[in-house]
Amino acid sequence: MRLRGTMRINASGHLEIGGVSAPALARDFGTPLYVLDEVLFRENCRSYRKAFGQGNRVVYAGKALICTAICRIIEEEGLYLDVVSGGELFTALSARFPPERIYFHGNNKSEEEIRQGISAGVGRFVVDSLSELDLLGRLAGEAGTLQEILLRVTPGIEAHTHEYIRTGQIDSKFGLPIATGQAMEGMRRALASAHLRLVGIHCHIGSQIFDLEPFREAARVMLNFTAEVRTATGWLPEELDLGGGLGIYYVSGDDPPAIGDYAAAILGTVRETCAALGMFLPRVVVEPGRSIAGAAGSTLYTVGVVKEIAGVRHYVAVDGGMGDNPRPALYQAQYEGALANRMLDEPASVVTIAGKCCESGDVLIHNARLPYPEQGDVLVIPATGAYNYTMSMNYNRLPRPAMVLVREGKAEVIVARETFENLLSNDRMPDSLWKSSPHT
Ligand code: LLP
Repeated sequence: MRLRGTMRINASGHLEIGGVSAPALARDFGTPLYVLDEVLFRENCRSYRKAFGQGNRVVYAGKALICTAICRIIEEEGLYLDVVSGGELFTALSARFPPERIYFHGNNKSEEEIRQGISAGVGRFVVDSLSELDLLGRLAGEAGTLQEILLRVTPGIEAHTHEYIRTGQIDSKFGLPIATGQAMEGMRRALASAHLRLVGIHCHIGSQIFDLEPFREAARVMLNFTAEVRTATGWLPEELDLGGGLGIYYVSGDDPPAIGDYAAAILGTVRETCAALGMFLPRVVVEPGRSIAGAAGSTLYTVGVVKEIAGVRHYVAVDGGMGDNPRPALYQAQYEGALANRMLDEPASVVTIAGKCCESGDVLIHNARLPYPEQGDVLVIPATGAYNYTMSMNYNRLPRPAMVLVREGKAEVIVARETFENLLSNDRMPDSLWKSSPHT
């Protein structure tokens, strides 16, 4: 397993994250446990800000990992925040994140969510459809505001990533396609609205992308489109938002570009293309999620039942699984693992790490090379900071894990472990059913 961020192996052969022993975290906070390396998370924010420089914007995509403490860190690091729902917006506002630094995304915002965003004073709505444009225009009018917006368009780019997380192609539920003329129609309608100010355009081509060419191509397609809009309407873009998508290292063979190289590719292409089109340089906006949160998070599990089927497979069951990390089941995502209490032992076995859900597909890692795992060992799976907690679920009524923030030998809970009472908090018992209980 590759060590990330502040991970170290101490003299007892234990993994440390943020100066705290992982087996000690498992003992003190229980498992499964999400552990977030604060130093690495902040370092990633800083790398982005430095790489994109003054004048451009880094908008952290909250869908990767969000809770109130994360919103505070994002604010402290000077980033903007992308939210995609009333729930994410509520989280950000509850953490006193400045609303003017919020970008409100979503392909099907409800009227209620739009009102919530307008009254909070969010900086930008990223408008996804013609109907949203009309609705937002009307609601902004009713509120007596001039709302700044970006229009999301689909540039028609196929990025090489899993089909479920590919979004830039024309056949997508997101955005207005340039190729069909709907994007141009959206621009005209936005410009005609008395209550909307069109600041720029947005696209997002997909996620977990290693190749820089699709990002360059997206920048070129988007700028060429704005040049067409300029010719047709005289409008000039202030902001070009190219979304997120930079990949991270999960397993051997993954080779993502550095944040600096990604930024240089985008900024260089924007400069060249604007020069060629005789356009002013717009502010460049990017929306990274995974490449900020992913490597900073690890999940700790306790090994339970170990089952060897001679000549077939060696199953090692842990106390979490698809409930806290649905990515392997959803996207065939791959992970590395290690035994956090035996980092120096020989990896002498090849095992299948299974979860505890009632699903045969609840497998976190196929063919993990580990020292022979025994009941009570602490398994660590790194690179689980993005799209794990935020995609977690209560299938089989498994409570969601806690999350701790670790730094310089200290661990603080930022999300409490769910309790059985939490699981019941929305259950309602009609009187008639309660009365039918033989025990009353
Ligand atoms: N901006 C927009 C409009 C997005 O839709 C997304 C991700 C991002 C930014 C951030 O992309 P990132 O930098 O994290 O790649 N659940 C999937 C990933 C879904 C991505 C959804 N949109 C997974 O676990 O791989």
